[in-house]
Amino acid sequence: MPARPLLLLLLLPFLSASGRQITNASDHHGGEAFGKIRAVNLGGWLVIEKWIKPSLFDGIPNKDLLDGTQIQLRSLKLGLFVSADGGGGQKISVNRPSASEWETFKLWRVTSTRFQLRVSNNDFVSASDEGAVEASKSSPDMWETFEIIRDPSSSKRVHLRAHSGMYLQAKDPSQLTADYKGTPGWDNNPAVFEMFVNTLLGGEFQLANGYGLAAAPAIFEQHRNGLVTANDFKFLASNGINAVRIPVGWWIAYDPKPPFPFVGGSLQALDNAFQWAGMNNMKVIIDLHGAPGSQNPWEHSGTRDGVSIWSQPKYISQTIQVIDFLASRYSKNPALLGIELLNEPRSDDVSFETLKQYYTLGYQTVRKHTSTAYVIMCQRIGADPNELANLLTKENGYSNVALDIHLYNLFYVTFYGKSVQWNIDYVYNERKQQLDSLRVTGGPAIFVGEWTNELNVTGASSSDYTAYATAQLEVFGAGASLGWSFWCLKNDNLHWDFERILEAQVAKMKTPQATNRPSKIDHWDCEEEIR
Ligand SMILES: *[C@@H]1O[C@H](CO)[C@@H](O)[C@H](O)[C@H]1NC(C)=O
Ligand SMILES: *[C@@H]1O[C@H](CO)[C@@H](O)[C@H](O)[C@H]1NC(C)=O
Repeated sequence: MPARPLLLLLLLPFLSASGRQITNASDHHGGEAFGKIRAVNLGGWLVIEKWIKPSLFDGIPNKDLLDGTQIQLRSLKLGLFVSADGGGGQKISVNRPSASEWETFKLWRVTSTRFQLRVSNNDFVSASDEGAVEASKSSPDMWETFEIIRDPSSSKRVHLRAHSGMYLQAKDPSQLTADYKGTPGWDNNPAVFEMFVNTLLGGEFQLANGYGLAAAPAIFEQHRNGLVTANDFKFLASNGINAVRIPVGWWIAYDPKPPFPFVGGSLQALDNAFQWAGMNNMKVIIDLHGAPGSQNPWEHSGTRDGVSIWSQPKYISQTIQVIDFLASRYSKNPALLGIELLNEPRSDDVSFETLKQYYTLGYQTVRKHTSTAYVIMCQRIGADPNELANLLTKENGYSNVALDIHLYNLFYVTFYGKSVQWNIDYVYNERKQQLDSLRVTGGPAIFVGEWTNELNVTGASSSDYTAYATAQLEVFGAGASLGWSFWCLKNDNLHWDFERILEAQVAKMKTPQATNRPSKIDHWDCEEEIR
């Protein structure tokens, strides 16, 4: 048996009713009678996510001290943690036996050794030339910049030198001061601190600013040209995939000279993707993944330090300009399927009222350029997606809209310590019910814009993963009226890597034993090694 396109084989039972090519979105309305999307997300391509490709960060000096890295400092002499009294706006003391919010400082990286420290109320730490240290500046300047000097023989011990040239010291617990003269040693003196480092974020901002203006462009160019190529589109098309969802960041609208620290070139990459999609009869969904001000605290929003303030009016209007730019550039491109206005706003940071306002404006903005492209709106993470299913109706003036929900059996306590069978049952029952509940008369098409084949189960076997994939393909294939998009194309983690999953299947089919076991063919097996 030749190496047939396997995904197609295994998908056919679920999709044969709707498996025709997407040729003209304008024929259809709200996803009814629409050739369903079987897409893959080009995750980690134009919006960096370190966990997808950690090696990108390998060449950064002091690579654990990136923007948004959280540090805690304990005086070696006092054995107590440095603490911003009241969470900020006051002096800094060194009086806490354990560390929590007030004792945690978010780094802004200036160079590989010079940093600004943001406290929990988001003020910055300052050291005056007279030696007073407090946290009360809303934006940082030179008095808010500190050199962190590591003990060459212990990565944990540090000195911190203020702009004045003096070192920070903990003479007594009531106050941190910037008045240690001369160069302190690494012995038990008051200018030595133990630094506890939590490198929380590895996104576009961290990669760009970590390498810095001089070195970053080459890193980004190589990454953008290497991770996704014309061949990947060919591969996807020949395996039954008919669309890609492409996460982009707001800085793309300012290409070729995006603001600090972003690196130009992502617009050219998106242009290439449209061309490759066109050549393979595939469609593109542009997904605004990183919005200015950050709609969530996670690295994939392009955040500097996890502070999520997108809801401020100035960021919302800037976001509308970005949508306008994307819609005007691609609305006439036959490969455009839709524009997703915002990925994963988090309910803690973005109220429904604010999001509703933005989605209304964003919808009108896309409609200035095209009446046929889908306008896709993502659920709020942490909120019930029905709030949007009920809003985005024909009655309320919306047409050709889709509601994007992301379905991972991960991250939430619900999924801790469960068996494979429990996860599969969850897909067949709860997920199906959830999708059914979103079907509203005159409502939006439903799009499972992200899912993957990872499970939080230790020791799951190859056939377990196959069964899990089968369940998801069946339920999402039937229940999502617009279709689905797998996260993602390539990933350091096997069960998140669409290409390796498929290649493993092909490799398996080519082995002589496999041809004697035809029942294995229509299994999506994720554990085979790739040759
Ligand atoms: C697509 O739809 C538009 C609007 O209904 C129509 O004018 C056009 O001819 C259609 N194109 C194809 C290829 O069906
Ligand atoms: C997996 O489950 C464990 C608890 O069993 C939890 O600590 C961990 O965060 C979970 N991982 C993910 C990715 O959800």
